[in-house]
Amino acid sequence: MTMTETLHTIGRAPPPSFEEARNKRQKVRAAGLDPNHWYAVEYARAVPPGKVVEVTFWRRSVAVFRGEDGALRAIDNRCAHRQLKLSGGRVEGCNVVCPYHGWAYGGDGKLCKVPHELFGKPLPKIELRHYPVRERYGLVWVFFGDPARADATPMPEIPELDGPKPWAKLLVDFTWKAHHSMIIDNVSDFTHAYLHRRFRPFTDSTLTDLRVEGDRVYVSYDTKVADGPLMKHFVDRKRTNVNAMTLCYQYPYQWSDTDGKIKDWCFCLPIDEQTTRAFFLFYFDGFKIPGLPLQMPRQVMEPVLEIAKHVVFKPLLEEDGVAVEAEQDGYNRHWQAPIAELNPAVHAFQALTIRKWEEYLASSSGRLAEAR
Ligand code: FES
Ligand SMILES: [Fe+2]
Repeated sequence: MTMTETLHTIGRAPPPSFEEARNKRQKVRAAGLDPNHWYAVEYARAVPPGKVVEVTFWRRSVAVFRGEDGALRAIDNRCAHRQLKLSGGRVEGCNVVCPYHGWAYGGDGKLCKVPHELFGKPLPKIELRHYPVRERYGLVWVFFGDPARADATPMPEIPELDGPKPWAKLLVDFTWKAHHSMIIDNVSDFTHAYLHRRFRPFTDSTLTDLRVEGDRVYVSYDTKVADGPLMKHFVDRKRTNVNAMTLCYQYPYQWSDTDGKIKDWCFCLPIDEQTTRAFFLFYFDGFKIPGLPLQMPRQVMEPVLEIAKHVVFKPLLEEDGVAVEAEQDGYNRHWQAPIAELNPAVHAFQALTIRKWEEYLASSSGRLAEAR
């Protein structure tokens, strides 16, 4: 550490806000994600009928609940009476009921029942904010932005999971103490093969293409995909070109594609400036039976993937989690350090995140939300 760096760490100030940021890295590490998109917030199975859960988007707490009719609902997680979190209460019928005095709210956010004396007054006219909510690909999705834009805003389209013969899929999630941009930098930047030298999901990578098209950054690598000790026995190298991969930061999502046969999406839920929940959805056209030139039957693939989740995917992604959390810790201490980033793709991801956040802040809904 140089003397200057040492001095910076003494009596250090916290990282700057987006408005205070002086350079691109400081900006991107403070930027939010535009709420005018659909965000994966929870597994659908974690919200069965009669259950309410708390989800947080950029410090905004929302109660997501499923009524006894099976429909999902999402409203502000705040009882209008004394501000308790409704997620601490319970679902009765199709309403969520506050745990303290039992005030009940419908999915439209309206107070619909007060179970105690009203002292001669009418039922208060109270309407909490409610949010469009959907269920798809085993996940619950919430639109936190302007509800008038929800229907026209596309969700990630995954035809491989929608058709009559859906591919085998695997979902795994993590909540990491790291800014969402650190996760985007991580998942599409193959310079971190060193971190994964045990699992070898990609090795000997060379960036062959980098394209920015609107709100998307495409990157392609020549690389050796799934060359690790376990996965390489399951990937059918005769049918799949495992020497290249294309990835995309399709704001605010990220996906990868190996020869149209192995794909994944990463859906980030930005909880706050230093906390992100990331859902990873992997899906596979087929596997081979290790040691044999035979395709694995479709019905066997998901049980195999369930095992692979615990022995490969989770431990592999936990390596990323340790790295991005350490990066956040390093950034908190050394946010003034000069930028030393070599991969042009990372610069492109960061530029897109900053531009989208600036556009959102300049929009009427952004100005309104930030003024609250
Ligand atoms: S605080 Fe919620 S009902 Fe009183
Ligand atoms: Fe990684």
